[in-house]
Amino acid sequence: MIRIEESADVAKDATIGEGSSIWHLAQVREGARLGKNCVVGRGAYIGTGVHLGDNCKIQNYALVYEPADLADGVFIGPAAVLTNDHHPRAINPDGTAKSADDWEAVGVTIGEGAAIGARAVCVAPVTIGPWATVAAGAVVTRDVPPFGLVVGVPARRIGWVGRAGVRLVPVFGREGYFKCPETGALYREVAGNDLREVEPHE
Ligand SMILES: CC(C)(COP(=O)(O)OP(=O)(O)OC[C@H]1O[C@@H](n2cnc3c(N)ncnc32)[C@H](O)[C@@H]1OP(=O)(O)O)[C@@H](O)C(=O)NCCC(=O)NCCS
Repeated sequence: MIRIEESADVAKDATIGEGSSIWHLAQVREGARLGKNCVVGRGAYIGTGVHLGDNCKIQNYALVYEPADLADGVFIGPAAVLTNDHHPRAINPDGTAKSADDWEAVGVTIGEGAAIGARAVCVAPVTIGPWATVAAGAVVTRDVPPFGLVVGVPARRIGWVGRAGVRLVPVFGREGYFKCPETGALYREVAGNDLREVEPHE
């Protein structure tokens, strides 16, 4: 079943996957494609042609401008913004109003399972790696590696998070290895700024 509240504004040619819910006053624009079991919270905005994978959660008043591309299981916190115009102007240098043809939209790409905290801003073009976490209020201006935990303005990586979203802790006596305190899963740092999942025996 697809649930679309009466006050939501969903374009006729938007595609909404089975099991998804679009809450009050949310807007889903033309050509947007939402996967299965997505939740779009009250007042959220999903731009023209934006793609959401399955099981994405877009919290209240988040603004997802095109051409954002979200993989499966992405979480966008309340009032977060994914921008699309790197050098915004309402008018051209000669003072005339800019039209859609006068600027080039750039997008935010977010990998599987990643989470964007409340009121964070991702300044396009930028890629957030799978399972990364962007802290509440951060402003992301550079790509975030998979499993990266970034905070602040501008956002800097302060550590790693695992699939559960919990900060990873170093494994005593094993240089470059990290463990999830919640799931026990093991990870290894490679090339300084990259993290991979590894099997327990590795
Ligand atoms: C970033 C976050 C995941 C860190 O959580 P954590 O791993 O438990 O880390 P801690 O709270 O121990 O904080 C670690 C450090 O980061 C800092 N920090 C935490 N959150 C921060 C944020 N949002 N912005 C800037 N710094 C932050 C802390 O002050 C602390 O700094 P210190 O080591 O100098 O004391 C968490 O604070 C956060 O922002 N979660 C997102 C919440 C959210 O937006 N949810 C959306 C649904 S409501």
